[in-house]
Amino acid sequence: MQFARLLLSSVLLTIPSLLTEASDISAAKGEWSFVRNGTTGITASQVILVSPTLILMLDRVLGDPLQINGHQAWVELWNLETNTGFALNAITNTFCASGAFISNGTMVSVGGQAVEFPPNVTVPPDADGRMGIRIFEPCNDPSGLDCTLFEDPATLHLAAYRWYPSSLRIFDGSLMILGGTHEQTPFYNTDPENTFEFFPPKDNGQTRFSPFLARTVPTNLFPRAFALPDGKIFVVANNQSVIYDIEAQTETVLPSLPNGVHVTNPKDGTATLLPLSPPDYIPEVLVCGGSNTSDSTPSEDLSSQDPASDQCTRITLTAKGIEKGWIVEKMPEGRMMPEMVLMPNGQVLIINGAGTGYAAYDSVNDTIGNSNADHPVFTPVLYDPDSPLGSRFTTEGLPKTNIPRLYHSGLTLTPSGNIFIAGSNPNPGVVENATFNTEFQVEFLNPPFMSRERPSLSGIPEQIDFNQKVTFGIDIPENLSTNDVKVALMDMGYSSHAFHSSSRLVFMDGGLSDDKKFLTVTSPPNNRVYPPGPAYIFVTVDDVTSTGTRVMVGNGRAPPVEDQGVPLA
Ligand SMILES: *[C@@H]1O[C@H](CO)[C@@H](O)[C@H](O)[C@H]1NC(C)=O
Ligand SMILES: *[C@@H]1O[C@H](CO)[C@@H](O)[C@H](O)[C@H]1NC(C)=O
Ligand SMILES: *[C@@H]1O[C@H](CO)[C@@H](O)[C@H](O)[C@H]1NC(C)=O
Ligand SMILES: *[C@@H]1O[C@H](CO)[C@@H](O)[C@H](O)[C@H]1NC(C)=O
Ligand SMILES: *[C@@H]1O[C@H](CO)[C@@H](O)[C@H](O)[C@H]1NC(C)=O
Ligand SMILES: *[C@@H]1O[C@H](CO)[C@@H](O)[C@H](O)[C@H]1NC(C)=O
Ligand SMILES: *[C@@H]1O[C@H](CO)[C@@H](O)[C@H](O)[C@H]1NC(C)=O
Ligand SMILES: *[C@@H]1O[C@H](CO)[C@@H](O)[C@H](O)[C@H]1NC(C)=O
Repeated sequence: MQFARLLLSSVLLTIPSLLTEASDISAAKGEWSFVRNGTTGITASQVILVSPTLILMLDRVLGDPLQINGHQAWVELWNLETNTGFALNAITNTFCASGAFISNGTMVSVGGQAVEFPPNVTVPPDADGRMGIRIFEPCNDPSGLDCTLFEDPATLHLAAYRWYPSSLRIFDGSLMILGGTHEQTPFYNTDPENTFEFFPPKDNGQTRFSPFLARTVPTNLFPRAFALPDGKIFVVANNQSVIYDIEAQTETVLPSLPNGVHVTNPKDGTATLLPLSPPDYIPEVLVCGGSNTSDSTPSEDLSSQDPASDQCTRITLTAKGIEKGWIVEKMPEGRMMPEMVLMPNGQVLIINGAGTGYAAYDSVNDTIGNSNADHPVFTPVLYDPDSPLGSRFTTEGLPKTNIPRLYHSGLTLTPSGNIFIAGSNPNPGVVENATFNTEFQVEFLNPPFMSRERPSLSGIPEQIDFNQKVTFGIDIPENLSTNDVKVALMDMGYSSHAFHSSSRLVFMDGGLSDDKKFLTVTSPPNNRVYPPGPAYIFVTVDDVTSTGTRVMVGNGRAPPVEDQGVPLA
């Protein structure tokens, strides 16, 4: 499966950073803008912010230009202060892994691919990654030069082979790992691992069989899973959903997605837990995009021109909400492989993906080059969860890019408040001059507040407990109305395959001091509302958002941690 048309890495690496005329003008007007800045040395198929200044990207060996120790690198650390990246050493193949932070601030990446032979290489530098566990310890060097990725495959590995798993941080600060596949599967999941496991391990390292995962083959890769405020897990895969009680080890079947829409790989829609607000923290999940073609259609009978679904569905995860079921909404355009980013003001940005076709490559009847997808969607759309049904989507003021971001692209909100976007490679190797190339250009999507005078925060403690009142300094630009102040506690998530796992926003109630120079907020009531671990605090005043400050939420100990704070009323 290697038909890499190798590129001249030097050509790509010297592409100048472009600030287009269009974005110049819109920045001046205080609108959203795309700005290009820098080039990655690997395909950014997985992206996670690992410190206030650093983004970790993971991929595989396929001919990318970035080198380490005399061979191609497949892990890169990106410095947001310089917009340059450099290689980190890895041992196992990290292709199509997942990950998250755990309660002591360590980032853990899990799963991956078996050994792959890149073009003309007889001894690949990477080892089998299917049971991979990779540890990125908290790293305080802003430039990242002292940061490392630790692996010891002989002693530190998963219980099962997991290529294309999902993972998320749960209430006790551990990582829960869901599903995946064992071997190279051409399109559908024909060799599934229908179990859950944990890191650090529970159940003496045994896996837990999931009837839900078994029911959702063959379209259940990268299940979209969320930690609910009571500690249970909500999972969407294929066209079905379930609530899993980790403690009781029971699955409760929820309504299927309407209209035959499938939303997990290789028919990637995406999903997010909407922002949680005090006092009730009522969980709602939004699922968008994917495909309504039948799972029994073999991939060679599918087309890159099959329209992607424009359906979004939303469910409130209370007894009453579940009874009501999924409420259908329509995006302005259909999307395969969209991504969602929670914005600190509570809106959801939906970005990237294709108007037609499927995830993966070289599987459908009429690929575009190698790509199973076509008609990249170039304009992001904003979803306002608080607006009335029927008027929640807007593309007004949102700019258009001309870089397709299809399979194997990634993005994350940064502490600056803008969105780092990289990657896309619907090809089995590095390709240029195709319709859909291996994409190395980094692009930022800047919200309007990036070009405004913004509130600034000071004196935020490095660690906060649950249910704690926290007071910190705030400097609010004079002309902003202080009637509308929102304080967001956020996990930016781990972006892999059109899903931001562990992404979370919990609003905190608070009040300004009389002189408006201090803000006092109450942290989430307990470790189930915000699974213990790192977070960023953003304050939005009159729709102008501050930069984000990192805090450790909870006692910062290694998982499993005990319940902390107070129960929900
Ligand atoms: C790109 O990023 C660098 C480092 O932050 C910055 O100095 C430069 O101004 C940026 N260029 C553009 C076009 O934004
Ligand atoms: C592999 O090596 C052969 C012989 O040196 C060369 O012709 C070919 O272009 C190489 N292929 C790739 C994908 O690098
Ligand atoms: C869900 O998908 C399966 C095939 O994967 C199909 O048999 C079933 O009818 C679908 N259910 C709904 C409610 O669309
Ligand atoms: C496959 O694509 C070709 C054109 O590229 C078309 O003629 C044919 O009908 C397609 N087959 C299927 C099963 O869709
Ligand atoms: C399937 O989805 C496409 C794209 O949204 C739509 O045009 C078509 O009507 C849908 N078909 C069914 C049977 O719902
Ligand atoms: C890609 O196109 C550019 C511009 O036409 C050309 O210089 C370059 O050689 C091409 N690369 C390959 C691998 O064909
Ligand atoms: C507030 O001041 C900024 C300049 O810092 C200006 O761009 C903005 O338009 C002003 N906003 C209002 C509502 O007057
Ligand atoms: C965090 O916990 C994990 C799992 O026990 C461990 O591997 C890691 O070294 C810990 N990190 C720190 C900084 O203590």
